Amino acid sequence: MNIRKAVIPVAGKGTRFLPATKQIPKEMIPIINIPMIHYSVMEAVESGIEQLVFVTSSGKETIENYFDRNLELEKFLEQNGKEKELNLIQNIGSMIEIITVRQKEQLGLGHAINCAKPIIGDDTFAVILGDDLVRSKKPVTKQLSEVSIANDNKSVIGVMEVPNLDTSKYGIVDGEFLDSDKLTLHMKAMIEKPRPEDAPTNLATPGRYILTGEIFDCLDRIPRGVGGEYQLTDAINMLAGREKVFAHIFEGDRFDTGNIEGFLNATVEFALRDNATKDIMMNIIREKIKTYGI
Ligand code: UTP
Repeated sequence: MNIRKAVIPVAGKGTRFLPATKQIPKEMIPIINIPMIHYSVMEAVESGIEQLVFVTSSGKETIENYFDRNLELEKFLEQNGKEKELNLIQNIGSMIEIITVRQKEQLGLGHAINCAKPIIGDDTFAVILGDDLVRSKKPVTKQLSEVSIANDNKSVIGVMEVPNLDTSKYGIVDGEFLDSDKLTLHMKAMIEKPRPEDAPTNLATPGRYILTGEIFDCLDRIPRGVGGEYQLTDAINMLAGREKVFAHIFEGDRFDTGNIEGFLNATVEFALRDNATKDIMMNIIREKIKTYGI
């Protein structure tokens, strides 16, 4: 069965982007002129998702407004003959059905996902973390959905290979590759930030998941974990003890835009990949190299 629902949690405090995030949701900070959240929603749309749940918190209203229509602005653009801009903003408002639920207290990613339970119900659904952008030929959520569909709609954790020395920065999966497919594993466990010598693999879990509805019962039962928060990792480990969970090495380049280094990297890379900005960015880089003698 197709995966039709997705959850994008956006209730976090975004402390790494303070002071901007004092007033602007982290997800609305743009890579050039497109807010990060726009990429996540596009990924959902292009993956066949029909219903999207935003888990929000107070101060995140601009995200809802961004995906709503702005009739006043539309009228202004229409009256001033700005057709291209008009099309751009009209499309944003009609991309997908969006439902918003509130996470009243920021008790962690696991807790945020659990807030979407009344809308997701028993269905297998996708989770897309808005501060992990992936550029790929086929949207990552679609890649993972296809693996889930081929495996009885079971859970699939998106993974990517990282240098062995970097395992302590990520959640790492342990498991065994399926005979049929050297990209898909039967996952045994997820281990939070293991030291390289303790890491069972170098397969890290940026924020892409397909999860069965059974995850909600696990989320109800896990105790608070690292940092006093309800960790999605703990619930996925419980789930893997109850039913088959897969991990799949997805195709694509991932940018961790939740921190300044990843955000800068994405900005430069996205500018270089876009014909409209490529030459501008190349010139800037050349000039900077001349000035700073790198
Ligand atoms: P992060 O760990 O990146 O936290 O959350 P954050 O608050 O967004 O940013 P920093 O670390 O303070 O800079 C990963 C994802 O989980 C969501 C965040 O919005 C982000 O998309 N999240 C996290 C919630 O929705 N609720 C929470 O209680 C925690």
